[in-house]
Amino acid sequence: MMKLVLDPYYEELGFLVAQRGGFPVINVEYKEFPDGEMYLRIVDSVENEDIAIVMSGYPYQDRAILRAELYVGTLKDLGARNVYLIFSYLPYARQDKRFLSGECITAKEIIKHMIYAGADEVITLDVHSEDVYKVFGSKFKNLKSKTLWINYARKYGDDIFFVSPDKGRENVIKEIAQEVGAPYISFYKERDLKTGKIVKIVPEDERKLIELAEHKKVAFLFDDIISTGGTASRVVKALRKFFRKKVITAFTHGLFLRGSVRKLLDAKTDIIVATNTVRNIFAFVDASEVFVRYLRSKS
Ligand code: R5P
Repeated sequence: MMKLVLDPYYEELGFLVAQRGGFPVINVEYKEFPDGEMYLRIVDSVENEDIAIVMSGYPYQDRAILRAELYVGTLKDLGARNVYLIFSYLPYARQDKRFLSGECITAKEIIKHMIYAGADEVITLDVHSEDVYKVFGSKFKNLKSKTLWINYARKYGDDIFFVSPDKGRENVIKEIAQEVGAPYISFYKERDLKTGKIVKIVPEDERKLIELAEHKKVAFLFDDIISTGGTASRVVKALRKFFRKKVITAFTHGLFLRGSVRKLLDAKTDIIVATNTVRNIFAFVDASEVFVRYLRSKS
């Protein structure tokens, strides 16, 4: 039977995984010394046990990464058989390519650390781009939130159309739209490689957008992550040129940096929804079932 370690910085998701999956939770003592250094003690025996650590990589990504290494290393040192590290939100995943010569591909470096610490598998949800992780083979698993959004969107029946904010999301949007039996449109997004600023974001097919705007009642924009809100709010603004009805913006990872909600509001977004992979107030969709399903397949 799989047992769980819940990171004290975000126990809520781990609690749901434990409850839904019926997985026992290991007792852990975690504290910080006055200078900020970490203390960790795994209180229960983990010898020959399969253990899944449930944690989020946001906020304070660097601390989360270090905690993850300490959990993994200690569990292995104490004789755990398999250690599965669940990062519901995987930090440092967006720098997944060498856009400019000499850049660090942080996405890859972080996973190397976890594997070196002893993780048998690093598991996450809707990672920014899967390709960079192929080099880790079966040691890395990216789960998908697709079914959660299909279930969420189904209630709008024939009224809905889907919106992909950029190329990176197009495949998943296509799959969700097909499953729901609804159309979709895509946007083209270009960033300045040095500053990261969005320099262009336009519908790939404006005529299709105008047609959908006329016949549909709900636009459903989905992105893997909202950070500054620049991407989503600019797409909503572009939609609003033609579409006056309901706009839903949905995100797997709701980082919601300061000012992001205001941008969505200014763009006239009707509904904001996210999952609970990071702590956020718009977490109306529970991602725990995806992790439970996967952990059960391992037990
Ligand atoms: C980038 O390609 C991602 O999929 C998101 O679109 C992006 O990271 C969102 O960031 P922001 O909210 O700052 O535009």
